[in-house]
Amino acid sequence: MVIMYTPAITFENDKLTIIDQTLLPDRFEYVPITTMTECIEAIKILRVRGAPAIGICAAYGLYLAAQSLSSKTYNEFRKEMDAICDLLYNSRPTAVNLGWAIQRIKSLYHANNDKPIEEVISFIRAEAIKIHSEDKEFCQQMGYNGLEVVPNPGNILTHCNTGSLATGGWGTALGIVYAAWEQKYRIHVYVDETRPLGQGARLTFWELMKNKIPCTLITDSMAGSLMKDEKVDLVLFGADRISKNGDVANKIGSYNLAALARFHGIPCYAVAPSSTFDLTLETGDEIEIEMRNSQEILHIYGYNDNLHDKAEVYNPAFDVTPAEFLTGIVTEKGIIKQPISKNLPKLIK
Ligand code: MRU
Repeated sequence: MVIMYTPAITFENDKLTIIDQTLLPDRFEYVPITTMTECIEAIKILRVRGAPAIGICAAYGLYLAAQSLSSKTYNEFRKEMDAICDLLYNSRPTAVNLGWAIQRIKSLYHANNDKPIEEVISFIRAEAIKIHSEDKEFCQQMGYNGLEVVPNPGNILTHCNTGSLATGGWGTALGIVYAAWEQKYRIHVYVDETRPLGQGARLTFWELMKNKIPCTLITDSMAGSLMKDEKVDLVLFGADRISKNGDVANKIGSYNLAALARFHGIPCYAVAPSSTFDLTLETGDEIEIEMRNSQEILHIYGYNDNLHDKAEVYNPAFDVTPAEFLTGIVTEKGIIKQPISKNLPKLIK
C-alpha cells in the first residue's frame, strides 16, 4: 500500500507555504508565509499546528526574517535576530519543538560571529531544511518502530491530529497507523473528534479518508463506552512536551484516554520524536499549559461576541498524562517501556 500524504509545509525556490489548517476540511489551500509576522500569526491561530510542524515553520520563518534584515554589522544582525527569536518563542508555550528549533538556529548564528552575514544566512537556511528533513526521517522511524505494538487485526483509538498535517513527514502516532497500513495490517481507527477545535474530526479523519484507511469518527465522550465494549485494542497519541520522568503534555483529552485505557487494561502509547523531550523539566507539573480564547468554545454553541467578555470558560489546550499511565513512548530511537522514568535516559540524552 502506498501512503499518499500531503505535506503541511513546503519550501521550494526559497518560498515557504503552509496548508491553512483552519480551513480544512471545507477548503484545501496552501498559503504563503513571507514575513515573521505572518509566521507568528499562522502559529498562533493554528494555520500551522502540531509540535514538529510548528518547529519546522518557525525555523523557515527565521530564515525569511534573517533575509529581510538590513543590518550592516554582525552585532546588529545578532541583536535583531535575538529580538525576533523572542517574539516567535512567545507565540505558543507548550510545544517544546518551537523553542528547540529556535535554539538550533540561534546557536548557529551565535557560533558564526566571524562570518559574513550572507554566509550566516545561508547556514540558517540549510539548518531549517535539515530540521524539516530530519523530522520526515524520524516520522518514518517512529512509524516502523511502533509496528511492534500494533495488533493485527486491530482497532486503534487516536486523538487530535498527529499525521502529515502536524509534522514534516507522515506523522507520529498517525505515522504508526500509516506504517501499519503500508504493511497491510488489518487495522481500523477510531478518531476522537478532539474538542473544541476538532483536530481529530477535521484533520485526522480527512487524512485517513484520503488514504482510504478504515476509520470511524467519534466524539470525545464516546471513548469510554467503546473501551468498555472491547472495541479498542490500542490507544496512540502524540506529544507536545515530555518531561525527564516521561510525563506527556498533549492535546486536552489525552489524559482522559490514558486513564480510561489504564482502567480497561488497554495498551496506550505516546509517540514523539526526540525533539519533543524537554530534559530540563523534572516532571510534567512544570510544563506550561497554553490557555486559549473562550470564543473557541462559545462559538460552537452560537454565543455571540457580546457575551464573550462575561462568560466564564475554561479552555486549556493541553493536559499532562503521568508516565505511569502509559504503556510506553514510541520514539525514532526505539520504544521507551515501563518503568519509563528509568528507561527514558537510556534512549534520550
Ligand atoms: O493545538 P495543536 O493542534 O497544535 O495540538 C497538537 C497536538 O496536541 C498533537 O498531538 C501534538 O502536537 C503532536 S503532533 C505530532
